[in-house]
Amino acid sequence: MKILTENARCWCGSKKRYGDCHKAFDEQLAALKRKGATVPPHKIIKNREQIEGIRESGKINIAVLDYVAEHIKAGVTTAQIDLWVYEQTVRRGGIPAPLGYEGFPRSVCTSVNDQVCHGIPSEDVVLHDGDIVNVDVSTIYNGYYSDSSRMFCIGEVSEEKKRLVEVARRCLEVGLEQVKPWGFLGDMGQAINDFARANGYSVVREIGGHGVGLEFHEEPWVSYVSKRGTEMVMAPGMCFTIEPMVNMGGAGVYIDDDNGWTIYTDDGKPSAQWEIQVLVTEEGYEILAR
Ligand code: MF3
Ligand code: CO
Repeated sequence: MKILTENARCWCGSKKRYGDCHKAFDEQLAALKRKGATVPPHKIIKNREQIEGIRESGKINIAVLDYVAEHIKAGVTTAQIDLWVYEQTVRRGGIPAPLGYEGFPRSVCTSVNDQVCHGIPSEDVVLHDGDIVNVDVSTIYNGYYSDSSRMFCIGEVSEEKKRLVEVARRCLEVGLEQVKPWGFLGDMGQAINDFARANGYSVVREIGGHGVGLEFHEEPWVSYVSKRGTEMVMAPGMCFTIEPMVNMGGAGVYIDDDNGWTIYTDDGKPSAQWEIQVLVTEEGYEILAR
């Protein structure tokens, strides 16, 4: 292990003296690690310049989702949404992160009704009155990544689907309350799972959130069915998504074998998901994309 002296430059790239930058932070991490906690590796701790870059990327992500919100309606195909996302991202100087990511063929994920996530936009998928759809946008801007998603209710949606969408949205607030420096990701996971279950729903176990910012998917993997006091410690400078997938029925899901991407609920009941990207700060958190 490399021991930095007080006067050396900090590992975070801030160009500050280590003693004035992340020394106290490292001591805090070391103490938690001695108690058996999983602590974040340095490479996922963002410095001020990186945070500024991710914030700018997040602004594009938000603007693209705002554009979708203004235009989405019954009769639109998910391929049309894909085109909007491509155009609105590129005109702001960004690149849609999904496009070509591990072979993903489109610029955005659009997941309708019993599709849980990673729906592939298609000319053949027309949005109908009563559908609920998740539009998951991710942007690369100056090399920095942002990722957030929203649900949209198309026309007249049943009360039971509306309630699912609303509870999934409130899961983010419940989770956010747990985001604070030196807490555990499991504090958030447990709060979200408890809230979803108390409302009669279930949370998908196999797919979770992720660190994001310098890459599309970084450590840690984030579960929303985890237990309080477990999983990785939340340290200032960490950036990750909160994106629980909430099912009206059972938690079971399967992957579409034909396209290798799209996840569906086992029981065919609807699923809802909202996603925000958060930064852990010294005081609590900052939302970088929503
Ligand atoms: N925003 C989605 C996620 O983080 C993107 C998945 S990769 C993609 O899960 F290629 F499908 F976009
Ligand atoms: Co994501």
